[in-house]
Amino acid sequence: MPSVSQILSAAVERALGAPALLRAADPKFGDYQANGIMAVAKARKENPRALAEQIIRQLDVANLCEPPTVAGAGFINFKLKPDFVAQQIDQAGRDDRHGVPAAAQPKTIVIDFSSPNVAKPMHVGHIRSTILGDSLARIGIFLGHRVITDNHIGDWGTQFGMLIIGWKQFRNDAALAADPIGELERLYKFINDKPDLRDEAKAELVKLQQGDAENLAIWHKIIELSLLEFAKTYRRLGVSFDHTLGESFYNPQLPAVVADLRQRGLAVESDGALCIFFPGQETPLIVQKADGAFLYGTTDLATLKYRIEQWQPDEIVYVTDARQQLHFQQVFAAAKKWFPATPDLRHVYFGSILGADGKPLKTRSGQNVKLGELLDEAEERALAVVTEKNPELPAEVHRQIARAVGIGAVKYADLSQNRTTDYVFSWDKMLAMNGNTGPYLQYAYVRVQSIFRKAGAATGNTPVTLVHPAELDLAKHILRFSDALETVLADDKPNWLTSYLYELASKFSAFYDNCPVIQSAEPTRTSRLALCRLTADILKRGLNLLGIDVIEQM
Ligand code: ARG
Repeated sequence: MPSVSQILSAAVERALGAPALLRAADPKFGDYQANGIMAVAKARKENPRALAEQIIRQLDVANLCEPPTVAGAGFINFKLKPDFVAQQIDQAGRDDRHGVPAAAQPKTIVIDFSSPNVAKPMHVGHIRSTILGDSLARIGIFLGHRVITDNHIGDWGTQFGMLIIGWKQFRNDAALAADPIGELERLYKFINDKPDLRDEAKAELVKLQQGDAENLAIWHKIIELSLLEFAKTYRRLGVSFDHTLGESFYNPQLPAVVADLRQRGLAVESDGALCIFFPGQETPLIVQKADGAFLYGTTDLATLKYRIEQWQPDEIVYVTDARQQLHFQQVFAAAKKWFPATPDLRHVYFGSILGADGKPLKTRSGQNVKLGELLDEAEERALAVVTEKNPELPAEVHRQIARAVGIGAVKYADLSQNRTTDYVFSWDKMLAMNGNTGPYLQYAYVRVQSIFRKAGAATGNTPVTLVHPAELDLAKHILRFSDALETVLADDKPNWLTSYLYELASKFSAFYDNCPVIQSAEPTRTSRLALCRLTADILKRGLNLLGIDVIEQM
């Protein structure tokens, strides 16, 4: 079913002949506002207010809203009629998408996210990429797009020279079995601290690059062990990928990519290196060093070419921390020179997670916080909260709830931030049962579900009627779910969805405080139960789109 904003947009667009630019209105004046009139008036050199008046006379929306009004410099405000809202709620209640239309023109969207480096533990910095990318993928899929997820793992580079000597000469098999990535990390650091082994490391790297069988086998083993460890984390987080091609996949393509860039005159020699220069920018993108080595950016250009040829995407989204901004600006600028047409390339970057001291989050001993340990602690802390709240539940149920609440709290804390800013990590805040937190929304879902346990099955097919202002307000918010999701994809910011859900829970509370449900007489009872049902369904769906599980009791 089309959403209310689609219905109104279409009506305005028919009259205006240009995009309506529909937004949420200031609630004092209405529910929706069309902002598109001004641009048209300007282009036609007309008075915007007069044009708005004229559009209103042409609009055929009497069944949907009160007579529209002109506001400000030429906006049109719409206030929905309760009957129309009720009718839309009826339909949304019968729709397994809760009234969210699927994209009329589905796009192909490649999402490059998580992308940790092998032989290193995934640290808390990777958490934002993993959680954000996964949520964007889920929302894209739900909105009907063809989403292709690719974990671009760092599985190639000079560190393998050191890892290979470490592996050959200093490996501790017991440690490797117990904690593979821990042992690989130890080996790397151990060799890195030994300057007299540098040359040997270089020699091992060269052998690997030339396809030496033993070194290749070690390299494969290191990747395999790392991927198995990453998979554990992904399983805990409920995250999966369509592809995990990794940087090494593109190695065979790099010489041809560089040759092509050089032949087209895009890459030129500078101090022996091959570089792509950009007007007005001092730092070039280096695609091949003087010693012949290829770089991170070379691989990204090869990756881009592969993705374009393989999937013909409309958009490619890269989710990494903000420090890679220059890198992606350069890669995108190079791609625009290289290809006749490029997809919409977006770097979805994010800030750092800070400790209470305002500095990037570290352990007490100054180490990077490991993602696995962070998730363990989240579950432990959630277990304490859950056990205290509901001591009578069996231990196994406590564990299960703690898992959903702990992991959900970490994800929600991250996704509810505007991703471009840094945020301070706080266990107390993220696990609070009140406020804009994961546990609060999971609990809101449990509360709505408990109404159904008490009410039993709904009695009939009574149409929805909306009388009390609190129920009308809740109903209108329910009808904005698809707008919230569209906004997330437009900005690559899931915090629009967390805000929407938090507001949904708040509006539900106001409704529930003011409007008796189970005690009401029919047809009000069934009508209000329908609002409860939609609220629960949207909470569940919305949390699922954030990668967060709901629970039935808490
Ligand atoms: N492995 C890189 C890192 O940990 C992130 C890769 C992001 N994706 C890309 N196509 N460059 O920083």
